[in-house]
Amino acid sequence: MVSSGVMSAAPYDRFADLLDTSADAPAATGFRCSSSAARRAPLTVTETIEEQVVKSRHRVRTYGEVFTPRHMVNRMLDLVREDLETGDFVDKTFLEPAAGHGNFLVAILRRKLHAIEKEYPPALWPQESLFAVASIYGIELLEDNHRDAKAIMLAEFLSFHQAHGIPCGPRTNLHQAAAFLIDANVVRGDTLTGLDWHGEEIQFSWWNRIPEAPGMAQREPFTFASLRHSTTDFAMNFAASDSYQACRIEKVHEQEKADD
Ligand SMILES: C[S@@+](CC[C@H](N)C(=O)[O-])C[C@H]1O[C@@H](n2cnc3c(N)ncnc32)[C@H](O)[C@@H]1O
Repeated sequence: MVSSGVMSAAPYDRFADLLDTSADAPAATGFRCSSSAARRAPLTVTETIEEQVVKSRHRVRTYGEVFTPRHMVNRMLDLVREDLETGDFVDKTFLEPAAGHGNFLVAILRRKLHAIEKEYPPALWPQESLFAVASIYGIELLEDNHRDAKAIMLAEFLSFHQAHGIPCGPRTNLHQAAAFLIDANVVRGDTLTGLDWHGEEIQFSWWNRIPEAPGMAQREPFTFASLRHSTTDFAMNFAASDSYQACRIEKVHEQEKADD
């Protein structure tokens, strides 16, 4: 999914004008208007906005950071409802190139989990929910957003299982596999350069199912840059990458490279 996240800050300048003048102060109770009259109280127009849309003027101007409100996220995802909730929806791949604090990522995961609940028997919920997590990718530049995006994904995953009485404490394979997949799939980096925050190429992995062995996954690493190249380049990149042993998706955090 290519989100509304745009890398240029300029289009968002108008949002910065809605903010309180303190550059980095979090907009904890919603927008304040920059005009002196309206600055005295939070704008009532924002009462319809369910959550924080901007954090600071500085961040809007510098990083183009304006979060899409939840109701708009949901309306946008309605446009791809079929991909998200029908057929082979569990493995449909989504990439959020400007993930922010994870509002699109978590909404995608939530829909997939609800669809799993409807379409699969309970015995398959753990494995299918992990394959759902494994299909959702994100890149985010800023440390706090990146941390929040991963946390909200894991929280959504765990609350789904808790609600169904499925053990998912920190020591369980379910919890650890989900955390591992989220760490691998939601990367802190720069989508424009293709580099992570260490300055190295952004690395992702496919978590392929093994058709003849339900519940088994085969990790296949690739670079984000390879997605932009031709099929031939991708094949070369792919061949040069590390290979991993197949394992159950619940044990993906324990898997080792095939040549280790
Ligand atoms: C407009 S916000 C959108 C966030 C989220 N997609 C949404 O719609 O609510 C843009 C996000 O992209 C991040 N960002 C800006 N430039 C980026 C880049 N070059 N690579 C990755 N993320 C970037 C910002 O930190 C910010 O969180």
